Amino acid sequence: MRIDIITCVPELLSGPFDHSILKRAKDKGLAEVVIHNLRDYATTKYKAVDDYAYGGGAGMVMMIEPIASCIEKLKSEREYDEVIYMTPDGENFNQKEANKLSLKKNLIILCGHYKGVDQRVRDLFITKEISIGDFVLSGGELAAAVIADAVIRLIPGVLNDETSALSDSFQDDLLAPPVYTRPADYNGHKVPEILLSGHQAKIEEWRSEQAIKRTKERRPDLFKD
Ligand code: ADE
Repeated sequence: MRIDIITCVPELLSGPFDHSILKRAKDKGLAEVVIHNLRDYATTKYKAVDDYAYGGGAGMVMMIEPIASCIEKLKSEREYDEVIYMTPDGENFNQKEANKLSLKKNLIILCGHYKGVDQRVRDLFITKEISIGDFVLSGGELAAAVIADAVIRLIPGVLNDETSALSDSFQDDLLAPPVYTRPADYNGHKVPEILLSGHQAKIEEWRSEQAIKRTKERRPDLFKD
């Protein structure tokens, strides 16, 4: 998979993809994240990527030309499955959407900034608008990193057996059960006996019960189906 992220603050995205599981995905040749600085596509003398809003009001609006030029260049090089715009008024992101996106080959993610992008960018180029929650970030960069992380770790071959995504929270609309490691006794706080029993079938049964209990307590909304 290749993810092209378009941003006017590329510094915010230098780092997250060079560590841990995302780095492993890159080293294995399973995922590549390419960051594009919108200013490189600016057409004005001062490399502006934003301008005042027509009709007045506070805040700047991202201009269509640099974005169009960047997206068109990328599209001339390869086919894209989705052109995603990160915005608080997009569809709420969840594990189901992460699963779907992990099956795609090439994605573009456009990060909004200031008051957002000229509506014509959304009308002409964007195929999917995603929000990572009901709060407003300063820009779409951190949200784009969240999406890329959630998606890349699901690509077959990125995780090994021990870190398998099949046991993640939300994979079956269930939260993950509690986990423990050594020591078995921390100042009298003991690890549940069953986990030390070596009886794998009983351990799986316990984990499944705990996942259901935790989901009912914390996220009854997930449990209704
Ligand atoms: N940009 C600003 N806030 C955002 C959010 N909550 N989700 C996605 N993109 C955003």
